[in-house]
Amino acid sequence: MAENTKNGSKKKGASYLSARESRRITKYNRRVTKRLEKQRADANKDENLYTTKMKDEGNVVEFDNVCTYFFTDAGTVKAVDGVTFNVPKCSTVGVVGESGCGKSVTSLSLMQLLQRPQGQVVGGEIRFNKDDGTAYNIVNTPNEIMEKIRGNRISMIFQEPMTSLNPVFRIGAQVDEVLKLHNPDWTEEQIKERTLEMLDMVGIANKEGVYKMYPHELSGGMRQRVMIAIALACSPTLIIADEPTTALDVTIQAQILDLLQNLKDRLQSSIMLITHDLGVVAGMADYVVVMYAGRVIEKGTADDIFHHPSHPYTIGLMRSKPVVGKKVEELYNIPGSVPNPVDMPNYCYYKDRCEMHCDRCSGDYPPEIRISDTHVVSCWRYFDEGEVLGYPKSVNVEDL
Ligand SMILES: Nc1ncnc2c1ncn2[C@@H]1O[C@H](COP(=O)(O)OP(=O)(O)OP(=O)(O)O)[C@@H](O)[C@H]1O
Ligand SMILES: [Mg+2]
Repeated sequence: MAENTKNGSKKKGASYLSARESRRITKYNRRVTKRLEKQRADANKDENLYTTKMKDEGNVVEFDNVCTYFFTDAGTVKAVDGVTFNVPKCSTVGVVGESGCGKSVTSLSLMQLLQRPQGQVVGGEIRFNKDDGTAYNIVNTPNEIMEKIRGNRISMIFQEPMTSLNPVFRIGAQVDEVLKLHNPDWTEEQIKERTLEMLDMVGIANKEGVYKMYPHELSGGMRQRVMIAIALACSPTLIIADEPTTALDVTIQAQILDLLQNLKDRLQSSIMLITHDLGVVAGMADYVVVMYAGRVIEKGTADDIFHHPSHPYTIGLMRSKPVVGKKVEELYNIPGSVPNPVDMPNYCYYKDRCEMHCDRCSGDYPPEIRISDTHVVSCWRYFDEGEVLGYPKSVNVEDL
């Protein structure tokens, strides 16, 4: 029989769960999530626990050692584990990494849209600037306040516009609804006027016609534009765009990205652009955060990441990207796959796939090392070359 660790996950090498183990995990999950929900309810009542100060007033959002875990039937998934990065004001931050590395979970943690109770932020702080010298610690912010932040101060453009728009309501009504919710004192005329202005702003030519249409009557590109209009209706300070163009063809993709960039400049917002398309990031982002298996492994300005990639994973990503004008026999592919999120190793998560690993890589997980003013990388190869900033703080599930 496969042996269990205390947190409910199977020991390495075990390939099945017996009924008894499964029951034990369920019991453990129920106990832990109940306790975490109680802690959250208590924190929601205490303003001191959800009000904090930004480390740097120039940022809109600061993720500080955020840990988001899912308590699943197969054990605890550390989807995001000690993630630290900032989104500065009026800038675009690209978050890249391969599928399943925790990009969406990071943004859902910021919006408090995790699937609870199994999904929980168990550690760290997410600070959102209130622009009055204080900040919300989103992790403990009560739902009433979150409802005012979502859609109003932070909005999200989802990947699939067909599933995000409601098929039984007309486009106009869906944009109106957001405006009504956040501006209760506006008249019907004011709301309609603003909706038409938004449809115009996102480049919909026949705005009066589209106002009365249903989502199925629009093309994919138009639906994505409507999604952008909804997201930007209340002039948010931060726009989270999670794979905003994956469902579109390349020409429309370029138009939508241009549109987003222009609107961002006009509204003086910031964008957190989540994608696995490095081409999209190269054209738009001021800063880039590279994630791997729930952790940030490298971050810096777009120039740092594209011209001086330092982590072996980022170097691999750059080599696997086709470049116009450069002839190659075969594109590089990174060998192996991401480790099982229930059973992460205690050394560098990339070591088993890394062609440049050294003796140190079998030791502890590498710390964050600053290799230039703007460029930070988590790799032992740079240990003697830069300033050590600290280790990502994971939460020990046995202490929960
Ligand atoms: N509701 C959930 N329950 C359990 N595990 C989840 C849940 N949502 C996400 N996860 C796990 O969290 C990890 C990170 O998922 P996430 O959706 O953030 O990936 P991603 O980086 O956005 O990938 P993609 O590029 O494919 O969108 C994955 O291992 C996933 O299985
Ligand atoms: Mg995702």
